[in-house]
Amino acid sequence: MEVINARFVISNVDVEKCPNTNLPEYAFIGRSNVGKSSLINMLTGKKSLAMTSAMPGKTTLINHFIVDDSWYIVDLPGYGYARRSREARESIERIIKNYVLKRDAMTCLFLLLDCRHAPQKIDLEFIDFLGEHGVPFALVFTKADKITKMELTRHIEAYKAKLHETWEELPPVFVTSSEKKMGREDLLDYIDGINSSYTR
Ligand code: GTP
Ligand code: MG
Repeated sequence: MEVINARFVISNVDVEKCPNTNLPEYAFIGRSNVGKSSLINMLTGKKSLAMTSAMPGKTTLINHFIVDDSWYIVDLPGYGYARRSREARESIERIIKNYVLKRDAMTCLFLLLDCRHAPQKIDLEFIDFLGEHGVPFALVFTKADKITKMELTRHIEAYKAKLHETWEELPPVFVTSSEKKMGREDLLDYIDGINSSYTR
């Protein structure tokens, strides 16, 4: 699938105020700074569609973008940024959990993981939360340009092994680099597959 057009629609703190739609929606979640906004820009081919920053904590709202008038991308705030106040952290967690559990239009949540790191408690807990609530999700490793191919393979296998300790079946796994546009086709094809069978 190719992307012709993508534009920002609206930002919200409240899932109830998100666009009323019968179009399929894909959301991007993960720790602060993992590369959510960069991946959205890479997928849509629009450099500054979603705001990115070297400082964690940039995205704090539910941001809707519409692609080719036929599907939505949602940029969510990152979780786990320690340098926020407790209230701010709790508020972000509430926004995320409400969105994930209540947004009917959300067909797949892409959970981003930095491919350089060993499995982190906060991500594993979030994966358990998704599994327990039956939320459809896929794993997306980011920043693949930052390590060698061998390290990449080793880290991903280790991650899968860790998940197999708890889960018999694993979700789809994608490997990406926004820097190198790696994984773009795979992700867009996956989205296209869901789009074509989506009925509402
Ligand atoms: P929050 O909005 O704060 O939760 O962060 P985010 O997950 O949206 O991350 P963002 O896309 O803003 O990227 C964070 C930093 O990582 C930026 O400095 C990006 O340039 C960098 N980055 C993101 N993806 C990649 C990648 O694939 N390769 C490399 N080398 N850097 C990346
Ligand atoms: Mg962001």
